[in-house]
Parts: sequence; structure tokens; C-alpha cells
Amino acid sequence: MKHFYHLSEFNYEQVQSLVNRAIELKANRDLVDLKNRQVGLLFLNPSLRTRCSFEVALRQMNCGVSTLDAQSLWKLETELGAVMDQDKSEHVREAVGVLSRYFDAIGIRAFAQGVDRDQDLLDQTIRTFMENSQSPVFNMESAMYHPCQAMADLITIQELLKTFSKKKITITWAYHPKALPMAVPNSILLASTLMGMDVTLAHPPAFEIHSGILDMAENHAKKSDGSLRIVNDRLAAAEDADIIYAKAWGGMSSYEDKEQEEAQRQAHKDWIVDSELMSKSNRGLFMHCLPVRRNVVVSDSVLDSARSVVLQQAENRLHGQKAILEWIFS
Ligand code: CP
Repeated sequence: MKHFYHLSEFNYEQVQSLVNRAIELKANRDLVDLKNRQVGLLFLNPSLRTRCSFEVALRQMNCGVSTLDAQSLWKLETELGAVMDQDKSEHVREAVGVLSRYFDAIGIRAFAQGVDRDQDLLDQTIRTFMENSQSPVFNMESAMYHPCQAMADLITIQELLKTFSKKKITITWAYHPKALPMAVPNSILLASTLMGMDVTLAHPPAFEIHSGILDMAENHAKKSDGSLRIVNDRLAAAEDADIIYAKAWGGMSSYEDKEQEEAQRQAHKDWIVDSELMSKSNRGLFMHCLPVRRNVVVSDSVLDSARSVVLQQAENRLHGQKAILEWIFS
């Protein structure tokens, strides 16, 4: 069964090959015909880019698509072993068992719940899907990973910088009024180290990335001849960077103490990507997965500048996902 869960399940050559194929498919939208296969997209959380880019990609590849929102389904229970005597009518185990008898592949979006840290680290909802599905499952953002976003990010970097090796990317934490999930920072960190980039991860001390993800990133960097350094100074982190990649995420150490986590976040409102920070870089590109809060995460002056490539990243979701779907059905 070819599930598409996260990019670290692939090696350097396989990811490079997917990136190259996506760029070919961007140049010629008629290269792939999926022959009326049927794909279900199940969104347990909101989406603009992922939903629209998958629907358009599938239709352009001659594939049927049904999009399902949590609001229009029976209320789903995701916990294993739950006593279902409250308001949730259907367990995801039956739901995926049924859906995978209709669809040739199923995409699932299931964010971290942000309540129980260890539970979110298990990434249980998408794992339950993969374990109970008779057809391939692909990850449209789970608690831990957003590989379709990382694929679009790599395509954009290849298009603009021509190579990954030794290019300097700074992945910087940014202030946000909510504690956001870690799927995007985990995924760009793993993808950039996998491809041999020189990676600087910048965040205030209370906002470490989970140690399991850092270990994977260190291993990637060793194998790919890239590098990883972690700094707590936002301006120093930007020095000589070819790319400034901004993302907000919630504190891992105070995950279950909402008041403490919020206080730690509020203390770092100065972590915004602005013109001063960009001026430290090597005429760096500005990247963000979107949606982004203007003048909180990034200033208008940066987001509206020629250095901002966020719309190219979003466009490349379409082409990267075509390459992923072709791989799933090959
Ligand atoms: N970047 C991203 O996944 O966007 P959506 O949440 O709008 O799908």
C-alpha cells in the first residue's frame, strides 16, 4: 500500500525526482491521465489552498473527486478504545473502512488537537486511516507533518535558486495570537535538511521543535552534507540567508498549560519578519505557507515586496500534488 505520509520516508533521490516531475507537470498539464479513478478528500479542519489545489489537480488529471467536510459527516470519534456514549456517532475506523471501499485513494486533513501533547505527537488520526484503509492514504496535513506543503516549498526553491545544496535557509518562529500546530515547521525543517541545505532554525527559548524531529533533521543533514544550527536571536539568524521562511508555532514545553504558553508567546511579539530582518539576509526570498497574518507574522513591506514568493509557493501546491498523485497510482 503506497501511503504518502511524510517526506522523510523518501530518500534524497526520490524527493529530487518528485520535484523534477512536478516542474515537468507545471510546464505541461496534459502529461498524466488517471483514467477516471475516484479520490476522496476528507477535511476535519479548514483549508483554502489544500482543498482547491487538490480538486483542480485531480480534475486536470481526469480523476473524480469528492470533498467531505467534518460538518457534513456523522460526528467522528478519533480516540482508540473510546466508549462512544456521547455525541460522536461514527468511529474513524469504520469511516475509513467504508470510504476506502469507494475511493481509489483518500486524502485526510487532521490537525493536532492542541490538548494532549503526547497524543498529538502520536499523529493518531492519520495513522488510524493508514492502518484501516484498503486504498492509499495521503496526508493533507496531520498533527505532525504537512508533506504537500514541503513539496511545494522545495519546488519553489529549486525554481528560484536552481539547487538545494549549500543554500542557506532560515526557518524562523514568528509571533501569532494563537498556539499553532507544528506540522509546517516540522516538515520544512525535515525537507530542507534532507535536501542538503544549510539550515538555521530560529526561535525564542520556550519554542523548541520536538526532539524526535530534531534528531531526524540532524540525521538528514549528516547524510546530505547539509547542516543544522539552532539560534535564539532573530536578527543574527537572518544573516546571509538565501531564504527567510517564517512560521508561527505553539510552545512544546508548556503545551498543556495554556496560560503559561500564551504568556511565553506574548513576550515575543517582536518576532515579526520586517524590512530590518530581511536586510540582514543575502537579498533573501521570503517564504510562508499561508494563510499569514499581516503585520503580526510579516510586515506589509516584506509580504508585498519582490522578495516575497508566497504566491509561487501556493501555486506549486498544485503541481507538487500532481507528482504525488502520479506516484501513488504508479
Ligand atoms: N498552506 C495550507 O495548507 O493552506 P490551507 O490551510 O489553506 O490549505
